[in-house]
Order: sequence, then C-alpha cells, then structure tokens
Amino acid sequence: MVGGAVAVQSIGPAAAAETTLRAAAAKAGLFFGVAASPNRLYPIVGQEFNQLTPENVMKPDTLATSSGGLQNTSGADTLVNHAQSNNMLVRGHTLVWHSQAGALQGASQATLNTFIGNAINRWGSKIAYWDVVNEALEDNNTGRRRNQWPHTMNRDANGDGDYFDSGDTDVIRDSFIRAKQVVQAGGFTTKLCINDYDVEGLTVQGGTPNRKANALYDIVRNYRQYIDCVGFQSHFNDNPNSIISSDLQANIQRFADLGVEVHITELDIDDDLSNNDIGSGQAENYRKVVRACLNVAKCTGITVWGISDSESWRSSERGLLFTGGNGSYQKKAAYTAVLDELNKGRTVSTSSVPTSSVPTSSVPTSSVPTSSVPTSSVPTSSVPTSSVPTSSVPTSSVPTGGGCSASVSVNAWTGGFVVSVRVTAGASTINGWNVRLTLPSGATVTNAWSANRSANSGTVQFTNVSYNGRVNAGQYTEFGFQGTGTATGLTPVCTAS
Ligand code: G3I
Repeated sequence: MVGGAVAVQSIGPAAAAETTLRAAAAKAGLFFGVAASPNRLYPIVGQEFNQLTPENVMKPDTLATSSGGLQNTSGADTLVNHAQSNNMLVRGHTLVWHSQAGALQGASQATLNTFIGNAINRWGSKIAYWDVVNEALEDNNTGRRRNQWPHTMNRDANGDGDYFDSGDTDVIRDSFIRAKQVVQAGGFTTKLCINDYDVEGLTVQGGTPNRKANALYDIVRNYRQYIDCVGFQSHFNDNPNSIISSDLQANIQRFADLGVEVHITELDIDDDLSNNDIGSGQAENYRKVVRACLNVAKCTGITVWGISDSESWRSSERGLLFTGGNGSYQKKAAYTAVLDELNKGRTVSTSSVPTSSVPTSSVPTSSVPTSSVPTSSVPTSSVPTSSVPTSSVPTSSVPTGGGCSASVSVNAWTGGFVVSVRVTAGASTINGWNVRLTLPSGATVTNAWSANRSANSGTVQFTNVSYNGRVNAGQYTEFGFQGTGTATGLTPVCTAS
C-alpha cells in the first residue's frame, strides 16, 4: 500500500470460540508454542500447540563438536520430525550462547561460524526460526554485554563504549552475518532471531528505564539487516527486572517498528508475583501478556516454557498452564485465560503487517560494520497505567507523487499512547524525509525511536536518522513515538528531501 488510507483490521471476537490454544492462535494470526523434550512428546503437544522449541537438545552442549561439527542430532531430529508430522513450526534453540556451550566453550569466531553453518544447513527450512544469539546481555539491568565468552572476543576499537563501529569486533554481528549468509546460500526460509530475558518492558520495577531492553534495541537497530526477529524470553517472577510492567506492549511495539518480528519465547509466570507492578493473579497476568502481543501485529508468536508446572525448570513457581505430568494434564485457570484472550483476537492496524524496506538481501562476505547510532531514549516517567488499547486510529496524508506519504497507527490507553508512523516513498527513491504532525492539546511525546523530533508537543517534526533516510521507490520505513495524553486526529504530512 502506497500512501493510501490504512484500514483497521479487527479480527474477532470469533463467531465460535476455538477450543485449543493452537487453533485460537492461528485464527488470530500467530503461533502458540511449547518447549519440549524428546521424552515428553505426549499427544497434548500436537493438540494444543503449533510451534515447538527444543528445551535442551539443540543447544551446543548436545550438538557441537569442538571443531564446530555436529554430533548427537537424534534428539533434535526426533523433535523436528514430530513437529513436521503435527504441522508445527520449529524454533532452533540456540547457536551462540555463553551457557551450555559444551565443546564450543572458548571457541573462536571461525569455529562458531563453522558450527552455525553446519547446524543451519542440517535442518534448513524445517527450522522456521533460529535463536542465533542467546542471552548476550548482562544481568542486573546494567545494559552491558556479558563479560564472559563468547563476548570476551569483542573489541571496542575506538573506545566509544559500543561495538558497532567499523574497527570494532562483535560476536553478535559476526554470528548473524554468518547465519544470514548460510540461509541465503541455501535458499532457506529460516528467520534469524536474537533472544534474551529481562528485556520485556520499557521499564523495570519502580519505573527505572530497562537498560537491558535498550541495549537489545540498539543491537537490533544497528544489525537490522541481519536480524529478522527478537525473542523476549518472558520468565516473569519477583526479580525487580523480571516483572510484567505495564509498558510491555509499548516495548514490543518499538521493536516491531524496527521491522522485526517479536516473539514471547519462553513464557512462564510465577503464580505469586507479590512485587509485580500490575497485580498478582496468574491467570490475569497471562491474559495481560497475551493481550500485549495480540495488540502488536508483528508480535507473531508466543511459546510457553514447558507443559506443566511439575515438569517445568522452575516447578516451585507453578508458572505454566497445566498441572499433572507424564502425559496426563489438567488445565489451570491460566490456560482458560490464555485461550479466552486468544479467542478475542487482535485489534490492530494492517499497517503493521510484517514487511520492511530494510534490505535483508545483501550480506557482506566479511564482517562489515554499521554506523554507530546513539543509544535509545526511554521515558523515565509517565509509565502508562493501563496497557489496554482503546483504539487503533490510522490516518494518512495525501500521496505526494515522487515524494513521500505517511500514515499513522495509534495504540492508546487511558492517559497514554504509542504511535507508529509509516513513511512510504512515492515513484522515486528518497534520501531523507520529514514528517510533520500536530498533537492534540495536552499530548506530550515522552520517547521516540528511529527518528529525530523537533518538539514534544504541538506541531512536531520528525526527521530520519542516519540509517533510514533512504527509502526505495514504493517501499517504506517506520518510526514511532510514545506519549502521554491522547493522540486523536493525527494527520501526518510527509516531505521528502
Ligand atoms: O538430563 C540430565 C539428567 O540425566 C541428570 O540426572 C540431571 C542431573 O542434574 O541433569 C539432567 O540435565 C539437566 C537438563 O536441564 C534436563 O533436565 C541439566 O542438569 C540442567 O542444567 C538443564 O537445565 C536446563 C537449563 O536451560 C540449562 O541452562 C533447563 O532444562 C532448561 O529449561 C533451561 O532453558 C533455558 C533456556 O535455554 C534459555 N533461557 C532460560 C531457560 C531457563 O533457564
């Protein structure tokens, strides 16, 4: 769609409610998956879920030899075959990780690259998503990379505090470049993801900015041409950095606005979140997480980290959707809440359907750096009090022939909003853009991404940043902003330069 009005797509409520998680999710346009082991492939796996993540058997400590070859692939094969015969997607988990590295512990980038090639090629397009890099960022909300292998290979050549510059070495960048090369050379449909925990909200407990989420955002923004998807692990518990914050949806949205798919990859929710910012009922907490994903079109999947509480890695938290075990399971209130929420479907703008103007086709044969981009700014206050959207109000400017047009999609809640803006080039490629819009009285922008802004209220001009000014004819790029107040009646006007 070039410059036309954006239609609001309301999927659901369904005429007849679906009775399994996978059917309800499919109707809403996302997958609902589970982490599984070869010895727990009970009927429920294929009945309730349409995506499968190997909980352990696709990790390097199982799969990798010290030279980057493959070994012990039978467990992974069992899971992949089971997924195929049950019409389930597979998420490969995981290629580069400081933990469970096995024989790869301490390996060079060259050896990691060998392993990446072997693993991706073995299953090809049978793997819909690969977690290429897992848990690259430090704990305790420092916003730093981990200081243990493989990240000890990183070099900040110019000492500016990041690894994004031309002379820098970055294991994240180099692993993704390798993975992308392999996918392209093989003609696979596999999408390449970065996955981490404690990155779910814009803020952590008490409204402190989530520096780990911001660091992940900067990585995705810098390496967008290699990264197709972002995983928020979503192990929610009483840790102040692991809570369900009310700005979960806004954070999903800001990543989605970079053009990547967002997935909730390892969901479990402690059944007693006494420190949780937004309440302690497990079923209600599940509902909030599912709703936050449903409200962002590019949030295309949710995976729970196991079937039942007793078989979970954190059984004491009783964090999953079923009780029971060994193939005999009972649905919990959390299950019913998730099913009900999925059956309500999405209410989102079609303007957010996954496609992107960001080139993904040209992968360098060597480690080509990308430019340094300033770290993102996230609001330190004005955290929304409710994540429930009240509207999705797209509008559009008039197409400007050879110039550009812009359309907006608004997710609003009581007292706040997130606006996604799509800039579409007309008949000619543009090399820069300016989007002007006027906010209603009382509305204030608190945070913007993928654009510079001239003001926080009234008439605001947004201009491209270094990496998204060029938009090919007929293609688009997107930016977004978050604010307080209301954001009704926005009419963006786009000027190309
Ligand atoms: O299978 C052996 C068993 O034979 C042995 O008797 C037993 C003794 O400890 O260990 C068993 O292996 C355990 C394995 O899980 C299977 O249950 C390992 O010790 C144990 O370390 C391993 O834990 C896994 C953990 O990753 C390791 O880091 C969990 O199952 C798995 O759920 C967890 O998954 C991670 C994700 O990959 C990344 N995100 C966090 C998530 C939870 O930690």
